[in-house]
Amino acid sequence: NWTANSILDEQVDRIREQIGSAKVICGLSGGVDSAVAAALVQRAVGDQLTCVFVNHGLLRQGEAEQVELDFVASTGAKLYVANEQDRFLNALAGVSDPETKRKIIGREFIRAFEEAERAIMAEAASEGEEIKFLVQGTLYPDVVESGGGEGAANIKSHHNVGGLPEDLRFELVEPLRALFKDEVRAVGAELGLPAEIVGRQPFPGPGLGIRIVGEITGERLELLRKADAIARAELTAAGLDNEVWQMPVVLLADVRSVGVMGDGRTYGHPIVLRPVSSEDAMTADWSRLPYDLLAKISNRITNEVEGVNRVVLDVTSKPPGTIEWE
Ligand code: XMP
Repeated sequence: NWTANSILDEQVDRIREQIGSAKVICGLSGGVDSAVAAALVQRAVGDQLTCVFVNHGLLRQGEAEQVELDFVASTGAKLYVANEQDRFLNALAGVSDPETKRKIIGREFIRAFEEAERAIMAEAASEGEEIKFLVQGTLYPDVVESGGGEGAANIKSHHNVGGLPEDLRFELVEPLRALFKDEVRAVGAELGLPAEIVGRQPFPGPGLGIRIVGEITGERLELLRKADAIARAELTAAGLDNEVWQMPVVLLADVRSVGVMGDGRTYGHPIVLRPVSSEDAMTADWSRLPYDLLAKISNRITNEVEGVNRVVLDVTSKPPGTIEWE
């Protein structure tokens, strides 16, 4: 791909010029933008880069492995992993209010990231080095949006790995600042990142934490992970990944309904499917997925995921509904 190739070369030159021989760190979220930004910087300055992955335990099935194994294998990047699953579960214990959950996740994320940062800085210092730069996967639309737009941004407090508070100790490296999402994906593919990372649909920073309506527990996360993995696998198998913008799978943990299985009564939780089509997530319509696909997802989830006895489809556009439930 000629365009991706020339963008890549140009950015690599720029990054080298900006960073020189200094050390740099980059947070990875599991998403496309941070992965491509990190891979570009790795291409430009190699081991001067240390990537940081704070695993908050709210990712979907297989996503932590995508960062820890696939990203590392395809880029050769140095990775520091902070396994903070318990920290987040403890901080979120007893909390069901959506905005409180978001604030806790955002706050703990920043703290955990800063702790990781300090550990990496201490290691660099012991070798007489200093970390001078922080990579951010800011895209062109983010630049435009933060230039003036308010409105929708205030409906929910969005949390993003890219949205860490600007730490004045670091100078920012933003190699995607001039690019749109499709260009970022093309550059990522050119850099050899796996299709699962490069083609990933949008996924919120607070992850599954805002897809459990009710209190977040380890057990509920496990259940939602299974249901979500089935829904995603069936969507992919049906060849419809490109037909939907994203498909949140939501666990209504505070709701139970009566069902029947074999010759016994069940009293389980509903799972909501929220497939939407959209251009930019500002507005959206519910996707008219084929009934056969919906039936398959529903059968598999109710059969394979213990504790779930009902699957429902969200047929609300945005507005008035938002894409996520919290
Ligand atoms: P809503 O639910 O507001 O979502 O219609 C619009 C888009 O934003 C994603 N989303 C988030 N992304 N941090 C993110 O990085 C967040 O806190 C967050 N909350 C929602 C959502 O998945 C959808 O694509």
